[in-house]
Amino acid sequence: MCGIVAYFGKKEAQPILIEGLRRLEYRGYDSAGVALLKDGAFDLYKISGRIANLEGIVPEPSSPATVGIGHTRWATHGKPTTPNAHPHIDCTGKIAVVHNGIIENYAILKKWLIQEGCTFKSETDTEVVANLIGYFYEKNLSRDGQNTPQRNNRFEWAVQQALNEIHGTYGLAILCLDCPDIMIGVKNGSPLILGVGENEFIIASDTSAIIEHTSQAVYLSDGEMVCIRKDGFTTKTITDKEVQKELKEIEISLDQIELEGFDHYMQKEIAEQPQVLETCLNGRVDVKNGRVVLGGIQDQLRDLTRTKRVILAACGTAWHAGLVGEFLFEQLARIPAEVEYASEFRYRNPVIDEGALFIAISQSGETADTLAAVEQAKERGATVLGVVNVVGSTIARTTDAGVYLRVGPEIGVASTKAFTAQVAVLTMLAIELGRRRHLSADIAQALLKELTEIPKKVEHILTQNEQIKQIAQANIDKDNWLFLGRGLNYPVALEGALKLKEISYIHAEGLPAAEMKHGPIALITDEMPTVFIATQCSQYEKIIGNIEEVRARGGKTIVVATEGDEHIKQYADHLITVPDTVEQLQPLLTVVPLQMLAYHAAVLRGHDVDKPRNLAKSVTVE
Ligand code: G6P
Repeated sequence: MCGIVAYFGKKEAQPILIEGLRRLEYRGYDSAGVALLKDGAFDLYKISGRIANLEGIVPEPSSPATVGIGHTRWATHGKPTTPNAHPHIDCTGKIAVVHNGIIENYAILKKWLIQEGCTFKSETDTEVVANLIGYFYEKNLSRDGQNTPQRNNRFEWAVQQALNEIHGTYGLAILCLDCPDIMIGVKNGSPLILGVGENEFIIASDTSAIIEHTSQAVYLSDGEMVCIRKDGFTTKTITDKEVQKELKEIEISLDQIELEGFDHYMQKEIAEQPQVLETCLNGRVDVKNGRVVLGGIQDQLRDLTRTKRVILAACGTAWHAGLVGEFLFEQLARIPAEVEYASEFRYRNPVIDEGALFIAISQSGETADTLAAVEQAKERGATVLGVVNVVGSTIARTTDAGVYLRVGPEIGVASTKAFTAQVAVLTMLAIELGRRRHLSADIAQALLKELTEIPKKVEHILTQNEQIKQIAQANIDKDNWLFLGRGLNYPVALEGALKLKEISYIHAEGLPAAEMKHGPIALITDEMPTVFIATQCSQYEKIIGNIEEVRARGGKTIVVATEGDEHIKQYADHLITVPDTVEQLQPLLTVVPLQMLAYHAAVLRGHDVDKPRNLAKSVTVE
């Protein structure tokens, strides 16, 4: 949801900014720009479309400027046009800003600034920030006329004055023409990290834009700003209180964010699942004793034994993982559980009783709705855990404790490896909570033993790549698909449909298979493929009945079944098999061929798999 990167050092800023934007492009990709500060002037290059378009308009050979800011946009206020692209420069021409987030009171501020004589060139909320800083900088007096800056930090003071007026979320990088040896970064509700190298500093929305230059970083918290000067940097709150920040080692490596021979990140991330699931389970599963060791929540677990209710909150794919979690907490731990859309939960004035356990699930750890739900659950006294991938992300830091997914960076916009790891973590959590209540050691041992077999079984599914591609090819002209499953495979049906929608732009609906007869069955024709997840499970006979209902109406079926199931062949126009496993773990396997199906459908339709239209990887706005 917009990526920002800013460079301050001794090297040429332009190639560093462009490369950083390329790394952040998954966050938004409808327009991009850079502002380079050189010889007392800003050189501004911005354009609608991808970073590739920006590369076409920046100077060649590269500008010698050693300070600059850059942005890749996912439009919120104003269409993805070139004037709306960032950076934005205020009407005095002195202040340049890149912004990730939303300024909620921008309209009222804009009206006031216009009355004060400011002019605007874009429809964005960000231009208000630039003008507001410019206003205070020029006027040199606070809005109430009470406060004037000390001469040597007028720029910093103007930023603070402007932020006093602003409501909303922001990650900002700001430059001022009069102060070429200062760069300011500010964070509130949107991610912002400062990379600290030798005589150079990089501000970015995430570490992927930093890691090539340094592995040392400072993670700013909400309400904090960093002021970078040639001799170092200082951190303080927006309200001008000094804060000491620790330098931390960035945990990702460069090869984790390279394609390494794959055509797309999504393809790479699907293929990585055996290995990342292994890492996710490593050291956490104690098969012999039928126990799970989750270091991040060990202190909380004792109290959680008395939990009366589990609330899971998430968005998108993470919500589907949460739905699997809901079933497992009820089945294995016998605790009432419910997964909530974070966006709905927060506005519902929800009842959160004492002793409730609230689990936020998020790959990025930055999703605005999930974060807001976390804050609300905390306020209302729940114990709040995070199931998060990105280490040090806002949700990871806001929750009381948590379990990391350990799947490494997920760059493809359509989430794959994070989903399977989210399900694996929730499974472990449900088993351990079950064990602390009444789940027998025998059952837990059997489940955990099977869990350790999952990575190998996923590996085996990946060998069907060619066959799954052919199934995608055979149905590539079909514009409407149904995905049906029952029990634990119902969330997988939802996820399969979402994957297809997201990247191949094919309309798809996921449903509990039995619900089909209450309406959607009217849609069935031989033009509408129906994907059934019909593995060996307690509802096997029932789902066979649902397949028959579709076939009786001329519908075509793609069936995901258990390896060795001869009986099911007669019901399948196309068959995909997954290795046998216990019912509770089947989502970890059955989702994989659906990820592959969606991937191939998108490639065959010629879409940009990693950057599907209109989407962004982390949605840091409501
Ligand atoms: C966006 C992404 C989805 C993701 C959802 C939640 O919509 O496109 O792939 O599932 O956000 O993201 P999170 O980072 O919170 O898991």
